[in-house]
Amino acid sequence: MTNSNTNGFNSSFGAIMAAAGSAVGLGNIWRFPYICGQYGGGAFLAVYICFVFLIGMVLMMSEFVIGRRTKMTPAKAYVALRPQRPVWRWVGILGLLTSFLILAIYLVISGWTLNYFWDSVTGALGRIGGEAGAYEEHFGCFASGAVRPVVFLLIFLGLTAAIVIAGVEKGIERISKLLMPILLVLLVLICVRSLTLDGASKGLEYLFLPDFSKLTGEGVLAALGQALFSLSVGMGVMIVYGSYLPVDDNILKSSMWITVCDTVIAILSGVAIFPAVFACGQEPTGGPGLVYQVLPVVFNSLGGFGGIISITFFLLLTLAALTSAISLLEALTAWLNERGMKRMKGVVLVSLCVAVLAALASLSFGDGILNNTHLYNILDKATGNYLPPICALLTIIFFGWFMKKDDIMDELSNHGTVKIGYFKVFYYFLARIVAPAALLIVLVAGIVGK
Ligand code: PFF
Repeated sequence: MTNSNTNGFNSSFGAIMAAAGSAVGLGNIWRFPYICGQYGGGAFLAVYICFVFLIGMVLMMSEFVIGRRTKMTPAKAYVALRPQRPVWRWVGILGLLTSFLILAIYLVISGWTLNYFWDSVTGALGRIGGEAGAYEEHFGCFASGAVRPVVFLLIFLGLTAAIVIAGVEKGIERISKLLMPILLVLLVLICVRSLTLDGASKGLEYLFLPDFSKLTGEGVLAALGQALFSLSVGMGVMIVYGSYLPVDDNILKSSMWITVCDTVIAILSGVAIFPAVFACGQEPTGGPGLVYQVLPVVFNSLGGFGGIISITFFLLLTLAALTSAISLLEALTAWLNERGMKRMKGVVLVSLCVAVLAALASLSFGDGILNNTHLYNILDKATGNYLPPICALLTIIFFGWFMKKDDIMDELSNHGTVKIGYFKVFYYFLARIVAPAALLIVLVAGIVGK
Protein backbone atom coordinates (compact mmCIF):
# COMPACT_ATOMS: atom_id res chain seq x y z
CA MET A 1 0.00 0.00 0.00
CA THR A 2 1.46 3.42 -0.83
CA ASN A 3 2.45 5.52 2.08
CA SER A 4 1.68 9.11 1.33
CA ASN A 5 1.91 10.13 4.92
CA THR A 6 5.36 10.92 6.18
CA ASN A 7 4.42 12.06 9.66
CA GLY A 8 4.54 9.87 12.71
CA PHE A 9 4.77 9.73 16.46
CA ASN A 10 8.07 8.84 18.07
CA SER A 11 6.81 6.49 20.72
CA SER A 12 3.77 4.47 21.50
CA PHE A 13 3.29 6.46 24.69
CA GLY A 14 3.45 9.73 22.80
CA ALA A 15 0.97 8.46 20.21
CA ILE A 16 -1.53 7.39 22.86
CA MET A 17 -1.10 10.67 24.69
CA ALA A 18 -1.73 12.63 21.51
CA ALA A 19 -4.87 10.62 20.72
CA ALA A 20 -5.98 10.96 24.34
CA GLY A 21 -5.20 14.66 24.03
CA SER A 22 -7.57 14.81 21.06
CA ALA A 23 -10.28 12.98 22.99
CA VAL A 24 -10.00 14.83 26.28
CA GLY A 25 -10.98 18.43 25.89
CA LEU A 26 -13.86 20.82 26.15
CA GLY A 27 -16.18 17.94 25.26
CA ASN A 28 -15.52 16.39 28.65
CA ILE A 29 -15.39 19.42 30.87
CA TRP A 30 -17.56 22.02 29.15
CA ARG A 31 -19.96 19.97 27.02
CA PHE A 32 -20.60 16.80 28.99
CA PRO A 33 -21.97 18.47 32.17
CA TYR A 34 -24.28 20.86 30.38
CA ILE A 35 -25.67 18.31 27.92
CA CYS A 36 -26.08 15.83 30.77
CA GLY A 37 -27.89 18.56 32.72
CA GLN A 38 -30.16 19.38 29.79
CA TYR A 39 -31.15 15.80 29.07
CA GLY A 40 -31.88 14.41 32.49
CA GLY A 41 -28.74 13.77 34.59
CA GLY A 42 -28.29 10.14 35.73
CA ALA A 43 -30.33 8.53 32.95
CA PHE A 44 -28.28 10.42 30.36
CA LEU A 45 -25.06 9.29 32.04
CA ALA A 46 -26.12 5.61 31.99
CA VAL A 47 -26.96 5.71 28.28
CA TYR A 48 -23.83 7.71 27.53
CA ILE A 49 -21.58 5.11 29.17
CA CYS A 50 -23.22 2.28 27.18
CA PHE A 51 -22.63 4.18 23.94
CA VAL A 52 -19.04 4.99 24.83
CA PHE A 53 -18.10 1.35 25.28
CA LEU A 54 -20.37 -0.35 22.76
CA ILE A 55 -20.02 2.12 19.92
CA GLY A 56 -17.39 4.78 20.62
CA MET A 57 -14.55 2.45 21.55
CA VAL A 58 -15.32 0.14 18.63
CA LEU A 59 -15.15 3.09 16.27
CA MET A 60 -11.88 4.22 17.75
CA MET A 61 -10.31 0.81 17.15
CA SER A 62 -11.76 0.72 13.64
CA GLU A 63 -10.41 4.16 12.76
CA PHE A 64 -6.98 3.28 14.12
CA VAL A 65 -6.98 0.09 12.05
CA ILE A 66 -8.01 1.90 8.85
CA GLY A 67 -5.45 4.65 9.46
CA ARG A 68 -2.49 2.47 10.33
CA ARG A 69 -3.25 -0.03 7.58
CA THR A 70 -3.28 2.60 4.83
CA LYS A 71 -1.18 5.41 6.30
CA MET A 72 -3.55 7.78 4.54
CA THR A 73 -6.20 10.34 5.42
CA PRO A 74 -9.84 9.20 5.32
CA ALA A 75 -10.65 10.42 1.80
CA LYS A 76 -7.94 8.21 0.27
CA ALA A 77 -7.92 5.44 2.86
CA TYR A 78 -11.42 4.18 2.06
CA VAL A 79 -10.62 3.99 -1.64
CA ALA A 80 -7.26 2.29 -1.02
CA LEU A 81 -9.00 -0.42 0.97
CA ARG A 82 -11.86 -0.80 -1.51
CA PRO A 83 -10.63 0.38 -4.93
CA GLN A 84 -13.70 -1.09 -6.67
CA ARG A 85 -15.94 1.40 -4.81
CA PRO A 86 -14.47 4.91 -5.10
CA VAL A 87 -17.77 6.29 -3.82
CA TRP A 88 -16.51 5.66 -0.26
CA ARG A 89 -14.23 8.64 -0.75
CA TRP A 90 -17.26 10.80 0.01
CA VAL A 91 -17.58 9.34 3.48
CA GLY A 92 -14.05 10.53 4.16
CA ILE A 93 -14.89 13.94 2.76
CA LEU A 94 -18.08 14.19 4.84
CA GLY A 95 -15.95 13.41 7.90
CA LEU A 96 -13.52 16.17 6.99
CA LEU A 97 -16.37 18.63 6.50
CA THR A 98 -17.70 17.64 9.93
CA SER A 99 -14.24 18.19 11.43
CA PHE A 100 -14.17 21.65 9.88
CA LEU A 101 -17.54 22.58 11.39
CA ILE A 102 -16.56 21.14 14.77
CA LEU A 103 -13.34 23.14 14.67
CA ALA A 104 -15.31 26.36 14.10
CA ILE A 105 -17.53 25.87 17.13
CA TYR A 106 -14.65 24.52 19.16
CA LEU A 107 -12.70 27.72 18.58
CA VAL A 108 -15.57 29.78 19.98
CA ILE A 109 -15.58 27.85 23.26
CA SER A 110 -11.79 27.72 23.39
CA GLY A 111 -11.78 31.50 23.06
CA TRP A 112 -14.13 31.77 26.07
CA THR A 113 -11.81 29.51 28.03
CA LEU A 114 -8.73 31.49 27.13
CA ASN A 115 -10.54 34.68 28.14
CA TYR A 116 -11.46 33.15 31.52
CA PHE A 117 -7.82 32.18 31.99
CA TRP A 118 -6.78 35.73 31.24
CA ASP A 119 -9.40 37.18 33.57
CA SER A 120 -8.17 34.82 36.31
CA VAL A 121 -4.61 36.06 35.83
CA THR A 122 -5.59 39.71 36.02
CA GLY A 123 -7.93 39.04 38.97
CA ALA A 124 -10.95 40.40 37.06
CA LEU A 125 -12.84 37.14 37.51
CA GLY A 126 -12.42 37.14 41.28
CA ARG A 127 -13.59 40.76 41.50
CA ILE A 128 -17.00 39.92 40.01
CA GLY A 129 -18.04 38.66 43.45
CA GLY A 130 -18.98 35.35 44.95
CA GLU A 131 -22.60 35.16 43.76
CA ALA A 132 -23.68 32.69 41.08
CA GLY A 133 -26.09 35.24 39.60
CA ALA A 134 -23.28 37.73 39.03
CA TYR A 135 -21.24 35.15 37.13
CA GLU A 136 -24.24 34.19 35.03
CA GLU A 137 -24.76 37.79 34.01
CA HIS A 138 -21.07 38.27 33.36
CA PHE A 139 -20.91 35.21 31.11
CA GLY A 140 -23.97 36.30 29.11
CA CYS A 141 -22.54 39.78 28.50
CA PHE A 142 -19.09 38.53 27.63
CA ALA A 143 -20.02 35.64 25.30
CA SER A 144 -22.46 37.69 23.24
CA GLY A 145 -20.04 40.60 22.93
CA ALA A 146 -18.75 41.69 19.52
CA VAL A 147 -15.03 42.06 20.09
CA ARG A 148 -13.55 40.20 23.05
CA PRO A 149 -14.73 36.65 22.26
CA VAL A 150 -13.63 37.02 18.64
CA VAL A 151 -10.20 38.35 19.62
CA PHE A 152 -9.64 35.48 22.04
CA LEU A 153 -10.75 32.85 19.55
CA LEU A 154 -8.33 34.25 16.99
CA ILE A 155 -5.46 34.14 19.50
CA PHE A 156 -6.34 30.56 20.26
CA LEU A 157 -6.46 29.69 16.57
CA GLY A 158 -3.02 31.28 16.12
CA LEU A 159 -1.59 29.04 18.85
CA THR A 160 -3.18 25.94 17.35
CA ALA A 161 -1.91 26.77 13.87
CA ALA A 162 1.63 27.39 15.14
CA ILE A 163 1.79 23.96 16.77
CA VAL A 164 0.35 22.18 13.73
CA ILE A 165 2.89 23.95 11.52
CA ALA A 166 5.65 22.65 13.85
CA GLY A 167 4.50 19.13 12.99
CA VAL A 168 3.22 16.05 14.69
CA GLU A 169 5.94 14.83 16.94
CA LYS A 170 7.64 18.08 17.77
CA GLY A 171 4.48 19.98 18.49
CA ILE A 172 1.63 17.66 19.32
CA GLU A 173 3.33 14.76 21.07
CA ARG A 174 5.34 16.88 23.49
CA ILE A 175 2.52 19.05 24.75
CA SER A 176 0.10 16.14 25.13
CA LYS A 177 2.45 14.01 27.22
CA LEU A 178 2.83 16.73 29.80
CA LEU A 179 -0.68 17.89 30.09
CA MET A 180 -3.04 15.02 30.70
CA PRO A 181 -1.76 13.89 34.11
CA ILE A 182 -1.79 17.43 35.54
CA LEU A 183 -5.34 18.02 34.36
CA LEU A 184 -6.52 14.87 36.09
CA VAL A 185 -5.01 15.84 39.44
CA LEU A 186 -6.50 19.30 39.35
CA LEU A 187 -9.92 18.01 38.45
CA VAL A 188 -9.85 15.67 41.45
CA LEU A 189 -8.98 18.61 43.72
CA ILE A 190 -11.90 20.63 42.36
CA CYS A 191 -14.22 17.65 42.89
CA VAL A 192 -13.17 17.45 46.53
CA ARG A 193 -13.98 21.12 47.05
CA SER A 194 -17.26 20.91 45.22
CA LEU A 195 -18.34 17.88 47.24
CA THR A 196 -17.72 19.67 50.51
CA LEU A 197 -20.06 22.57 49.67
CA ASP A 198 -23.37 22.73 51.54
CA GLY A 199 -26.10 20.86 49.65
CA ALA A 200 -23.63 19.03 47.41
CA SER A 201 -25.32 15.65 47.81
CA LYS A 202 -28.25 16.74 45.62
CA GLY A 203 -25.80 17.15 42.75
CA LEU A 204 -24.47 13.63 43.20
CA GLU A 205 -28.01 12.25 43.25
CA TYR A 206 -28.79 14.15 40.09
CA LEU A 207 -25.74 12.71 38.33
CA PHE A 208 -25.80 9.13 39.57
CA LEU A 209 -29.45 8.26 40.28
CA PRO A 210 -31.03 7.62 36.88
CA ASP A 211 -34.63 8.63 36.31
CA PHE A 212 -35.36 7.11 32.93
CA SER A 213 -38.71 8.87 32.65
CA LYS A 214 -36.70 12.03 31.91
CA LEU A 215 -35.04 10.52 28.87
CA THR A 216 -36.38 11.42 25.39
CA GLY A 217 -35.46 10.13 21.92
CA GLU A 218 -33.57 13.35 21.36
CA GLY A 219 -31.77 12.81 24.70
CA VAL A 220 -30.61 9.36 23.59
CA LEU A 221 -29.36 10.81 20.31
CA ALA A 222 -27.60 13.56 22.25
CA ALA A 223 -25.91 10.90 24.41
CA LEU A 224 -24.71 9.13 21.28
CA GLY A 225 -23.52 12.38 19.73
CA GLN A 226 -21.73 13.29 22.95
CA ALA A 227 -20.04 9.86 23.17
CA LEU A 228 -18.68 10.24 19.64
CA PHE A 229 -17.76 13.90 20.06
CA SER A 230 -15.98 13.20 23.31
CA LEU A 231 -13.92 10.32 21.91
CA SER A 232 -13.18 12.28 18.70
CA VAL A 233 -14.51 9.42 16.60
CA GLY A 234 -16.73 9.24 13.56
CA MET A 235 -15.21 12.07 11.53
CA GLY A 236 -11.95 10.35 10.61
CA VAL A 237 -9.62 12.33 12.87
CA MET A 238 -8.58 9.08 14.52
CA ILE A 239 -7.93 7.62 11.05
CA VAL A 240 -5.36 10.37 10.59
CA TYR A 241 -3.86 9.76 14.05
CA GLY A 242 -4.01 6.01 13.35
CA SER A 243 -1.85 6.59 10.29
CA TYR A 244 0.82 8.03 12.60
CA LEU A 245 0.70 5.15 15.12
CA PRO A 246 3.88 3.12 15.50
CA VAL A 247 3.65 -0.38 13.98
CA ASP A 248 4.09 -2.07 17.35
CA ASP A 249 1.34 -0.14 19.12
CA ASN A 250 -1.35 -2.43 20.50
CA ILE A 251 -4.51 -0.85 19.06
CA LEU A 252 -6.92 -2.69 21.35
CA LYS A 253 -5.07 -1.65 24.48
CA SER A 254 -4.56 1.94 23.36
CA SER A 255 -8.22 2.39 22.44
CA MET A 256 -9.36 0.96 25.73
CA TRP A 257 -6.97 3.11 27.69
CA ILE A 258 -8.04 6.30 25.89
CA THR A 259 -11.74 5.47 26.24
CA VAL A 260 -11.50 4.80 29.97
CA CYS A 261 -9.43 7.91 30.55
CA ASP A 262 -11.85 10.09 28.56
CA THR A 263 -14.87 8.72 30.39
CA VAL A 264 -13.31 9.12 33.83
CA ILE A 265 -12.56 12.76 33.05
CA ALA A 266 -16.14 13.38 31.87
CA ILE A 267 -17.58 11.83 35.03
CA LEU A 268 -15.15 13.75 37.23
CA SER A 269 -16.28 16.94 35.50
CA GLY A 270 -19.85 16.03 36.39
CA VAL A 271 -18.81 15.46 39.99
CA ALA A 272 -17.03 18.82 40.00
CA ILE A 273 -19.96 20.73 38.51
CA PHE A 274 -23.31 19.28 39.65
CA PRO A 275 -22.79 19.48 43.42
CA ALA A 276 -21.71 23.10 42.94
CA VAL A 277 -24.71 23.80 40.69
CA PHE A 278 -27.11 22.69 43.41
CA ALA A 279 -25.10 24.26 46.22
CA CYS A 280 -25.26 27.64 44.41
CA GLY A 281 -28.97 27.29 43.74
CA GLN A 282 -28.50 27.17 39.95
CA GLU A 283 -30.32 25.04 37.39
CA PRO A 284 -28.51 22.03 35.85
CA THR A 285 -30.19 22.95 32.56
CA GLY A 286 -28.18 26.20 32.41
CA GLY A 287 -26.76 25.47 28.94
CA PRO A 288 -23.37 26.18 27.38
CA GLY A 289 -22.36 28.70 30.07
CA LEU A 290 -22.66 26.21 32.93
CA VAL A 291 -18.95 25.64 33.62
CA TYR A 292 -18.15 29.33 33.30
CA GLN A 293 -20.94 30.34 35.65
CA VAL A 294 -20.52 27.69 38.32
CA LEU A 295 -16.82 26.99 38.76
CA PRO A 296 -15.81 30.60 39.49
CA VAL A 297 -18.18 30.43 42.48
CA VAL A 298 -16.34 27.32 43.69
CA PHE A 299 -12.99 29.02 43.19
CA ASN A 300 -14.17 32.08 45.10
CA SER A 301 -15.19 29.88 48.02
CA LEU A 302 -11.56 28.78 48.36
CA GLY A 303 -10.42 32.12 49.76
CA GLY A 304 -6.76 32.97 49.11
CA PHE A 305 -6.09 29.82 47.09
CA GLY A 306 -9.07 30.37 44.79
CA GLY A 307 -7.18 32.71 42.46
CA ILE A 308 -4.36 30.24 41.87
CA ILE A 309 -6.72 27.32 41.35
CA SER A 310 -8.77 29.37 38.91
CA ILE A 311 -5.66 30.33 36.91
CA THR A 312 -4.42 26.72 36.83
CA PHE A 313 -7.80 25.28 35.93
CA PHE A 314 -8.52 27.61 33.03
CA LEU A 315 -4.93 27.26 31.80
CA LEU A 316 -5.23 23.47 31.75
CA LEU A 317 -8.65 23.62 30.15
CA THR A 318 -7.22 25.89 27.44
CA LEU A 319 -4.37 23.45 26.88
CA ALA A 320 -6.75 20.47 26.79
CA ALA A 321 -8.80 22.36 24.21
CA LEU A 322 -5.59 23.04 22.31
CA THR A 323 -4.66 19.36 21.93
CA SER A 324 -8.18 18.66 20.60
CA ALA A 325 -8.22 21.64 18.24
CA ILE A 326 -4.79 20.56 17.01
CA SER A 327 -6.15 17.16 16.02
CA LEU A 328 -8.97 18.74 14.03
CA LEU A 329 -6.67 21.16 12.23
CA GLU A 330 -4.10 18.40 11.71
CA ALA A 331 -6.67 16.13 10.03
CA LEU A 332 -7.71 18.89 7.62
CA THR A 333 -4.11 19.87 6.93
CA ALA A 334 -3.05 16.25 6.36
CA TRP A 335 -5.79 15.96 3.75
CA LEU A 336 -4.57 19.03 1.86
CA ASN A 337 -1.01 17.81 2.30
CA GLU A 338 -1.96 14.50 0.72
CA ARG A 339 -3.35 16.42 -2.22
CA GLY A 340 0.01 18.12 -2.75
CA MET A 341 -0.29 21.30 -0.70
CA LYS A 342 2.60 22.24 1.61
CA ARG A 343 1.88 21.86 5.35
CA MET A 344 2.35 25.57 6.04
CA LYS A 345 0.08 26.63 3.18
CA GLY A 346 -2.55 24.08 4.20
CA VAL A 347 -2.61 25.29 7.81
CA VAL A 348 -2.92 28.93 6.73
CA LEU A 349 -5.72 28.17 4.27
CA VAL A 350 -7.80 26.12 6.72
CA SER A 351 -7.18 28.64 9.50
CA LEU A 352 -8.38 31.56 7.41
CA CYS A 353 -11.57 29.78 6.36
CA VAL A 354 -12.38 28.48 9.82
CA ALA A 355 -11.64 31.85 11.42
CA VAL A 356 -14.44 33.45 9.39
CA LEU A 357 -16.98 30.77 10.30
CA ALA A 358 -15.97 30.76 13.97
CA ALA A 359 -16.21 34.56 14.21
CA LEU A 360 -19.69 34.51 12.67
CA ALA A 361 -20.75 31.72 15.05
CA SER A 362 -19.45 33.70 18.00
CA LEU A 363 -21.34 36.82 16.93
CA SER A 364 -24.54 34.79 16.72
CA PHE A 365 -24.28 33.38 20.25
CA GLY A 366 -26.85 34.49 22.85
CA ASP A 367 -27.77 38.14 22.34
CA GLY A 368 -24.89 38.69 19.90
CA ILE A 369 -25.31 41.06 16.94
CA LEU A 370 -25.98 38.17 14.51
CA ASN A 371 -28.31 36.25 16.82
CA ASN A 372 -31.12 36.22 14.26
CA THR A 373 -29.02 33.87 12.06
CA HIS A 374 -28.98 31.18 14.81
CA LEU A 375 -25.65 30.09 13.33
CA TYR A 376 -24.19 29.03 16.68
CA ASN A 377 -27.21 26.88 17.51
CA ILE A 378 -27.32 25.32 14.06
CA LEU A 379 -23.62 24.44 14.19
CA ASP A 380 -23.93 23.16 17.74
CA LYS A 381 -26.80 20.80 16.91
CA ALA A 382 -25.27 19.66 13.62
CA THR A 383 -21.86 18.91 15.09
CA GLY A 384 -23.14 17.60 18.41
CA ASN A 385 -26.16 15.47 17.53
CA TYR A 386 -26.39 14.73 13.84
CA LEU A 387 -23.20 14.72 11.76
CA PRO A 388 -20.97 12.56 14.03
CA PRO A 389 -23.53 9.70 14.26
CA ILE A 390 -24.14 9.81 10.50
CA CYS A 391 -20.39 9.72 9.73
CA ALA A 392 -19.89 7.05 12.40
CA LEU A 393 -22.59 4.84 10.90
CA LEU A 394 -21.03 5.02 7.44
CA THR A 395 -17.54 4.38 8.83
CA ILE A 396 -18.56 1.31 10.80
CA ILE A 397 -20.53 -0.10 7.86
CA PHE A 398 -17.44 0.26 5.72
CA PHE A 399 -15.28 -1.33 8.37
CA GLY A 400 -17.56 -4.23 9.22
CA TRP A 401 -18.91 -5.05 5.78
CA PHE A 402 -16.49 -3.78 3.15
CA MET A 403 -13.04 -4.25 4.65
CA LYS A 404 -11.39 -7.68 4.50
CA LYS A 405 -11.59 -9.50 7.82
CA ASP A 406 -8.04 -10.82 7.41
CA ASP A 407 -6.69 -7.29 7.00
CA ILE A 408 -8.48 -6.21 10.17
CA MET A 409 -7.22 -9.11 12.26
CA ASP A 410 -3.72 -8.74 10.87
CA GLU A 411 -3.66 -5.09 11.88
CA LEU A 412 -5.23 -5.66 15.30
CA SER A 413 -2.73 -8.41 16.12
CA ASN A 414 0.25 -6.46 14.79
CA HIS A 415 0.82 -9.04 12.06
CA GLY A 416 0.28 -11.93 14.42
CA THR A 417 2.71 -10.78 17.11
CA VAL A 418 0.04 -9.79 19.66
CA LYS A 419 -2.45 -12.32 20.99
CA ILE A 420 -6.01 -11.02 20.79
CA GLY A 421 -7.83 -14.29 21.45
CA TYR A 422 -11.60 -14.27 21.99
CA PHE A 423 -11.65 -10.53 22.03
CA LYS A 424 -11.36 -10.40 18.27
CA VAL A 425 -14.57 -12.42 17.88
CA PHE A 426 -16.41 -10.17 20.31
CA TYR A 427 -15.00 -7.03 18.76
CA TYR A 428 -15.82 -8.11 15.24
CA PHE A 429 -19.38 -8.88 16.30
CA LEU A 430 -19.71 -5.43 17.86
CA ALA A 431 -18.31 -3.77 14.75
CA ARG A 432 -20.40 -5.74 12.27
CA ILE A 433 -23.74 -5.99 14.03
CA VAL A 434 -24.17 -4.19 17.34
CA ALA A 435 -22.60 -0.81 16.57
CA PRO A 436 -24.23 -0.25 13.13
CA ALA A 437 -27.64 -1.44 14.36
CA ALA A 438 -27.49 0.75 17.46
CA LEU A 439 -26.31 3.75 15.47
CA LEU A 440 -29.10 3.36 12.94
CA ILE A 441 -31.83 2.88 15.55
CA VAL A 442 -30.73 5.81 17.68
CA LEU A 443 -30.36 8.10 14.68
CA VAL A 444 -33.79 7.30 13.33
CA ALA A 445 -35.44 7.39 16.76
CA GLY A 446 -33.71 10.66 17.61
CA ILE A 447 -34.81 12.35 14.39
CA VAL A 448 -38.34 10.95 14.35
CA GLY A 449 -38.94 11.21 18.09
CA LYS A 450 -38.05 14.88 18.42
N1 PFF B 1 -13.04 15.07 21.67
C1 PFF B 1 -12.87 16.49 21.79
C2 PFF B 1 -13.40 16.92 23.14
O1 PFF B 1 -14.00 16.11 23.84
O2 PFF B 1 -13.23 18.07 23.48
C3 PFF B 1 -13.50 17.25 20.67
C4 PFF B 1 -13.20 16.70 19.32
C5 PFF B 1 -11.89 16.65 18.85
C6 PFF B 1 -14.24 16.20 18.56
C7 PFF B 1 -11.62 16.09 17.62
C8 PFF B 1 -13.97 15.64 17.33
C9 PFF B 1 -12.67 15.58 16.87
F1 PFF B 1 -12.46 15.06 15.70
